[in-house]
Amino acid sequence: MTLPSIATAVVQWQASHGRNHLPWQQTRDPYRVWLSEIMLQQTQVSTVLGYYQRFLDAFPDVASLAAAPQDAVLALWSGLGYYSRARNLHKCAQAVMEQWGGAFPRTAEDLATLPGIGRSTAGAIASFCFSERVPILDANVRRVLTRVLAFDGDLAQSKNEKQLWDLAQQLCPTQNLQEAMPRYTQGMMDLGASICTPRKPSCLVCPLHSECRAGRAGNPENYPVRTRKLKRTAESWWLLIAMDDQGRVRLQKRPQAGIWAGLYSPPVFESEAGLLHHLQQNWASTELDADASQCRHLPAFLHVLTHKDLHLHPVLVQVGNRHAAMVSEANDVCWADAAAWAELGLPAPIRKLLDSELG
Ligand code: ADE
Repeated sequence: MTLPSIATAVVQWQASHGRNHLPWQQTRDPYRVWLSEIMLQQTQVSTVLGYYQRFLDAFPDVASLAAAPQDAVLALWSGLGYYSRARNLHKCAQAVMEQWGGAFPRTAEDLATLPGIGRSTAGAIASFCFSERVPILDANVRRVLTRVLAFDGDLAQSKNEKQLWDLAQQLCPTQNLQEAMPRYTQGMMDLGASICTPRKPSCLVCPLHSECRAGRAGNPENYPVRTRKLKRTAESWWLLIAMDDQGRVRLQKRPQAGIWAGLYSPPVFESEAGLLHHLQQNWASTELDADASQCRHLPAFLHVLTHKDLHLHPVLVQVGNRHAAMVSEANDVCWADAAAWAELGLPAPIRKLLDSELG
């Protein structure tokens, strides 16, 4: 099957086997379609039906919703959960009134600028209401597409997610868009909901059966591939930059595991108090007369790691020329001037810091 015939198969199947009688399918009014898409984001069709009708009875158009008090909107949402959806819904209605003269924008790109409308919801509204040739990629459609294409890139990585969006765009119908786009979008949703299910998909009755690479290989449940997204965290690190009067900086090899493993760095402390305490305990007592009054705070900066934001706070301490008095330096410590640290393995942000502030 070629790419266009995938779209054709989905469109034909939707007409005969898909859902065609849901209330939000009986209109191309973007207000009504938008409302349904927001309600359906985390909620089943059967639950949404009653809420949808009550909501429209109270707020028949975007102007009435925008003018309503937030409490009234939240009250009608009560029981649907995920209340940020309702707050964004209200904000979005107000933005449509204020920024778009009361008419929803007609392209997915513009729709996606509104509160609570992500790229997939924007695609759904634009294809349903305006027949724009844009894809959707909600969880159901992601499953259908990754299986059909045997797309095994890890969707936790944004480059793979982007590639799948590009493929989804290419797979959209190319002819008769006025009718085909709404049907195709609904068809992809319907396939994902009824046939291409997460477990035990009904491959034998699937309209894409002959084309589906995962189906043919007998392993559709292996798709989509998604490692667990690690939660991003943040840490603040205080860097003790001790410099002698010949411009040499004390660097210490980092442990072999963890951030900057095995690289040279100024000593790291988890708090400013920890750094100052260390100075008082270790350095003053070895007659290195550094104390808090001789600390100069350099500008703090952010260093972004894959799963962590590091807020780095460099503190410069002039220690005179008496570092030699420190008798028992470990052998993973060195005092390096600019020429020496140029040769050492340093983390990029540390090299940049030393070169720009002290080099
Ligand atoms: N889920 C999200 N959008 C939907 C729609 N238009 N029809 C059915 N289920 C949906």
